Amino acid sequence: MTAPAEQDLKQRTAVALTRARERTALLTSCVEDSELTAQHSPLMSPLVWDLAHIGNQEEQWLWRAVGGREALRPEIDSMYDAFEHPRASRPTLPLLAPAEARAYAADVRDRILHVLDGTRLEGRPLVDAAFAFGMIAQHEQQHDETMLITHQLRKGPAALTAPPPPATADGAPEQREVLVPGGPFTMGTSDEPWALDNERPAHTRIVASFHIDTVPVTNGAYQAFMADGGYRDERWWQAEGWDQIRQHAIEAPLFWRREGGQWLRRRFGVTEPVAEDEPVLHVSWYEADAYARWAGRRLPTEAEWEKAARHDPATGRSRRYPWGDADPTPVHANLAQRHLGPAPAGSYPEGASPLGVRQLIGDVWEWTASDFLPYPGFTAFPYKEYSEVFFGPEHKVLRGGSFAVDPVACRGTFRNWDLPVRRQIFAGFRTARDAEPA
Ligand SMILES: [Fe+2]
Repeated sequence: MTAPAEQDLKQRTAVALTRARERTALLTSCVEDSELTAQHSPLMSPLVWDLAHIGNQEEQWLWRAVGGREALRPEIDSMYDAFEHPRASRPTLPLLAPAEARAYAADVRDRILHVLDGTRLEGRPLVDAAFAFGMIAQHEQQHDETMLITHQLRKGPAALTAPPPPATADGAPEQREVLVPGGPFTMGTSDEPWALDNERPAHTRIVASFHIDTVPVTNGAYQAFMADGGYRDERWWQAEGWDQIRQHAIEAPLFWRREGGQWLRRRFGVTEPVAEDEPVLHVSWYEADAYARWAGRRLPTEAEWEKAARHDPATGRSRRYPWGDADPTPVHANLAQRHLGPAPAGSYPEGASPLGVRQLIGDVWEWTASDFLPYPGFTAFPYKEYSEVFFGPEHKVLRGGSFAVDPVACRGTFRNWDLPVRRQIFAGFRTARDAEPA
C-alpha cells in the first residue's frame, strides 16, 4: 500500500468509527440516565450495558490486540462478556453507571484514534486493510441497531424523531415477481476488506431457476393472510411456530393492536394506523413461513436471495450491491437510521438489481428459508465466538439489512442470523417459488 493510499484508508476508517459513536451518543442521550440503567425487556440489555460493552470490545481488540498495549480495565472484561452473562441477567450486574460508561468509552476511543494513526495497515491479518478497526466500527453499529430495538420495546412517549422516508415509489405493481435464471453464480466474498468471516470465502453455487418477489411482502398483503384466518389454520404452520402462536395468543405482528375495526401499530412511542403499502415488520420466521405457504409460495433460500441481489446476468459476475459496486447513498436504500421505519414497497428504484428486484438492501431484514451454516472453506477469524458457535439448524439467516443498519455493516454478502421465534428485530420477508420446468 502506498503512503497516500494508507492515509486515505485511515481517514475513511476514522470517519466510520466517528459515525458509529455519534449514533451511540444519540441513542444513549435522548432518554434520562434512569432509562439507561432500566431493563425495558428481558430480551434486551440495559442500554448502559451496550454502551460500556462497545468500549470494552474496542479496548480488547484495538488497544490490546492491535496496539499491543497494557489493559486499561481488565476487571470489567467478564461483566461485559456477552457469552458469560445472558441479556436477562445483565441488570443484576454491578454495571458502570452512565457517566462512567460514557467516560470509559470516550477514553478508549481517544486512544484508538492514536493507535490507528500509528499503525501500519498491512503485514498481519488483524490490521490488513484496517480489518480490526472495520470490525469494531461494524460491532458498534450492530449494537446501535440492538439499542434501537430496545428503544422500540421501551414504553413511554417518543424519544427519537426522524423524517419519513422520501416518496420514491413509482407505482411498481405490488408483489410482482421476476424469473431468476438457474445456473452458477459467485456467492460470498474473498476480497471485500471488511467482510466478516462468515461471508467468506467466495465460492460457486448452482441454483435452479426460481421466481422472486420484486418487493417485500406488505402490511396490506399480510392482512389478507390474517383476514383469511391464517393465524388459526394449523396447515400453514410448522409445529414450533404453531405452538408459539397458541401459547402467546399471537394473531398479528408484534406491536400491532386492533381498535375500532382497524389495526394500529406502536412504533418508537407513536401509535398510528398500519400503513398498507409498507413492508410488514416484526414477524417471526414462523410467521413469514406460514404466510408464504398460505400464498402458495415459499421463502427464498439464502443462495437464491444472494443470487437475486448480486448476480448480473449480462456479465456473469456478482456485484457488491444490487445496483452495482458503489457504496450505498440515500438514493439507493433506506439505511443508517435516517428514517425510523421502512419505505413503501416499490421505493428506491435506483437501488434495484439488474432484474428489477427492489429494496433488497435496507428497509427490513429479510428472513430466508436457510439455516445459518458455514460456507465451504470457512475459517473462523478473528475468534470462534464471532460466527462459528452460532452455526447450526437453530438459527435462520436474514439478509439485506433494515432501516436501522449502517452501510458499514451492510453488503450484498452480509449475513445476519437469529432464532426463528424472534419478533422484536426489524425483520420482514419476501417470497419465492420454483420455476416451471422448461
Ligand atoms: Fe457485542
